[in-house]
Amino acid sequence: MTAKIIDGNAVARQVRGEWKKRVDVLRARGVIPGLAVIIIGNNPASRIYVRNKVKACGEVGLHSETHEFAADTGAQPVIARIEELNRDPRIHGILVQLPLPPQLESRQLLGAISIDKDVDGFHLYNVGGLVVGENIIFPPCTPYGVQCLLEYENIQIEGQNVVVVGASNIVGKPMALMLMAKDATVSICHIKTRDLAQYTILADILIVAAGCPNLITAPMVKRGAAVIDVGINRLPDGRLAGDVDFERVKEKAAFITPVPGGVGPMTVTMLICNTVAAAERNANKCNEAVPVTA
Ligand code: GUN
Repeated sequence: MTAKIIDGNAVARQVRGEWKKRVDVLRARGVIPGLAVIIIGNNPASRIYVRNKVKACGEVGLHSETHEFAADTGAQPVIARIEELNRDPRIHGILVQLPLPPQLESRQLLGAISIDKDVDGFHLYNVGGLVVGENIIFPPCTPYGVQCLLEYENIQIEGQNVVVVGASNIVGKPMALMLMAKDATVSICHIKTRDLAQYTILADILIVAAGCPNLITAPMVKRGAAVIDVGINRLPDGRLAGDVDFERVKEKAAFITPVPGGVGPMTVTMLICNTVAAAERNANKCNEAVPVTA
């Protein structure tokens, strides 16, 4: 068996095309969805991610702005800027790019973002919605992108054994919660899991977000599984690689995502979806507030 290679770029293009139509509808109502990205410090990977987010916004017709702070900034100036952006009617989504410099607490900054503009879905209120499995307002972008890829490929989720490798707040935990909400049987593994293979071999859907090149080898994968590689690792020779031994695992799996060109383009796409959805909700709320005259 050779796996179908899931083309994240193609799916992302299609999803962005669909959401571009919704942006056009909003524009016709005089609303331009707006995203503010806050970046603190000089993490090179973060700078690339932020550049990609801003570029994608432009392509779909969103307004975007980047707010940069020096690496040694304290929490107060950043919180003051977040509060300004919370009040700014041109801004419908706010995100703070992670990771932060060590003197800053992510919980403090993320907690300052208005829950209606929390397009990353990292505010505890939105995390709570995810835990309860209802009222999921802003699904976190990377797991939302993975779910979207599974749905595009018509991969059944309900009743399937899903193994998520990696328990981060950004990917692993929200991914597990989103698939539980779709009635999958979910196991979460992480760097301290003993004998990882005894879990991964049972997975109908294996999602790997551990940040460890070649962590998942072919013997660890069930024949016919769908393997979603969220890892992005820079190898010593400069190439990018995921967490999965792509060449060997693709001979055993039924579906596999490449790195690059798999999950990566979907993360940015779902950020756009969340921002446009926030702008739609806000526009509808504003409409409701206008008294209707006969
Ligand atoms: N750093 C890595 N992934 C993400 C993400 O999805 N959102 C933010 N804000 N920072 C990240």
